Amino acid sequence: MAGQIPQRFIDDLLARVDVVEVVGERVQLKKAGRNYSGLCPFHQEKTPSFTVSADKQFYHCFGCGAHGNALRFLMEYDKLRFPEAVEQLASRLGLEVPREGADDPRAQARERKRQEGVNLLELAASFYRERLRMPEGQSAREYLARRGLSEEVQRDFGIGYAPNDWEALKRHLSAREIVEAVQVEYGLLVQREDSGRTYDRFRDRVMFPIRDVRGRTIAFGGRVLGDAKPKYLNSPETPVFHKGRELYGLFEARQANPRLERVIIVEGYMDVVALAQYGIRYAVATLGTSTSEEHLSRLFRMVNEVVFCFDGDKAGRQAASRALETVLPQMIDGREARFLFLPEGEDPDTLVRREGREAFEDRITCASPLSEFLFDQAARGRDLARVEERERFASQVLKAASRLPRGMLQTVLLGELARRTGVDQSRFEALLARDEQTVPAEFSEEPATASAGPVTVRRAPSAREASLGLVARVLQLLVHEPTLVERLPAEDDWCPEGDGDAGLCRELIRLLRAGRYRSPQVVLAHFQGSAQGERLALLAQREMLIPREARAQELEGLVDYLVRHRKRQSPQEEFETLLARERGGERLPMEARRRLQELLVELKR
Ligand code: UTP
Ligand code: MN
Repeated sequence: MAGQIPQRFIDDLLARVDVVEVVGERVQLKKAGRNYSGLCPFHQEKTPSFTVSADKQFYHCFGCGAHGNALRFLMEYDKLRFPEAVEQLASRLGLEVPREGADDPRAQARERKRQEGVNLLELAASFYRERLRMPEGQSAREYLARRGLSEEVQRDFGIGYAPNDWEALKRHLSAREIVEAVQVEYGLLVQREDSGRTYDRFRDRVMFPIRDVRGRTIAFGGRVLGDAKPKYLNSPETPVFHKGRELYGLFEARQANPRLERVIIVEGYMDVVALAQYGIRYAVATLGTSTSEEHLSRLFRMVNEVVFCFDGDKAGRQAASRALETVLPQMIDGREARFLFLPEGEDPDTLVRREGREAFEDRITCASPLSEFLFDQAARGRDLARVEERERFASQVLKAASRLPRGMLQTVLLGELARRTGVDQSRFEALLARDEQTVPAEFSEEPATASAGPVTVRRAPSAREASLGLVARVLQLLVHEPTLVERLPAEDDWCPEGDGDAGLCRELIRLLRAGRYRSPQVVLAHFQGSAQGERLALLAQREMLIPREARAQELEGLVDYLVRHRKRQSPQEEFETLLARERGGERLPMEARRRLQELLVELKR
């Protein structure tokens, strides 16, 4: 990491750039009085609720609550990290970003190295592109023509050709003073173990550059022109490339449409490119791995709908089951996942060429929603007229439902399960609730003293957020977005006493209601130095998978759930709890004090 950017440089930068200009380059703005307005780039909308203020130098969306200054905008819109956003603004003004401790030679060396990697892969990508246009690229050009890839789509995806030569790229890069060790590190050269000699990894292959969301080349996939094996060769894991995280075509999809609403996940490079050529510019491919949690959380940050595409054979069904397992914990309300099965022997590439865009998009439209796929899968090979088979069917659906976040989908799913089995929905709800209550709390980050008794945790160990207790999730939402406190009921008796986070939660709510805390930083500063502060900071650092516009709903859902599952206390217990709170020095809210009075009278009787 390079040194810190001095705060005064950032202040100075913000004073000198115009947020209207920065936003205006990416969003169409109209002047409306003193402000500018337009369609919000952070959520889908038809009428503008996004405003940019030149006076105050910030933007705000009344629809989804997105707001901030020019830096924040660049971070969110261009998916930049903070220093990168600063770099970008600075370069507009022709300024060099100063770094504290920048003369530290180690930091300098690291920074140089990172830059070296980025440049190197970019150099390689343009080398491959040039070679495709040269005489030696003829066989590759013919191959691409045979596969029906237009020049336009070849250009959009930066497709190139690695010549049939053991050292062509090596010579090219070495002439540009890139040392061989770096070329090996970034996967462009292979080094023989015995002799230490190096040679080009990709030879006589059509080259697909794999780009990150910002369009920087981070790896390659290369296809043979004929039937040799392996058919595709991919870059190995390198400092900038992690296979399980990247999606081929995501950058290009966002280029084609920055307000992407849906993506379809396919298997291969050729599928992505062929679909794009036919106007379906929202396909992405995993790189020879199955879809990971990380892929999905990344996608769901950008779109609300994901369509998985599979072969119609047995392997395809198995892959679909795996995808279902991965996607379940991420299905908060507002998100959609669907499953598309292709006819046997076809892939999206062959199918879209045979049927054309419309027919293919019809297939997408008719793809099974998650619930349908889930029921089909559970019913597969079972005779539901038999009681035992029906029990297994229900258990399988229930197990999947238990991995869903609390929300509409789960509720509707249980309703449908009830309809199909003739068992009352409340029975299924009870089963789910029971399972949740009995899972022991075993997360290590929880301070040992904080959890007295069993804590309610969601049964979805694969989702990061899901391993938090319910109250912790409320806390997390509030820390990330303090203004959400307005969505909470006036009385905080939904906060279960047994939960280790309950005290902190009530404290935070009281503080936020007092009204002065609007940003996470200020909230964290308030608790700084205490155990509570540590807990909050930990929750604040956890990634929020829930998009901004869905957070209020998520919070209400959580509280609603806690209200419904509030442990029924006897009047005596309730009285004692309230009394303990008051004696503990807490100023009870009006309703609670009134309730205390009532209980006192009731208990005396
Ligand atoms: P497929 O074998 O289904 O190939 O591999 P394809 O996409 O239909 O390719 P074409 O149409 O024959 O050109 C699907 C994906 O699996 C990975 C690649 O990412 C490929 O796109 N794969 C496949 C490899 O990484 N290596 C291989 O040898 C084969
Ligand atoms: Mn294919």
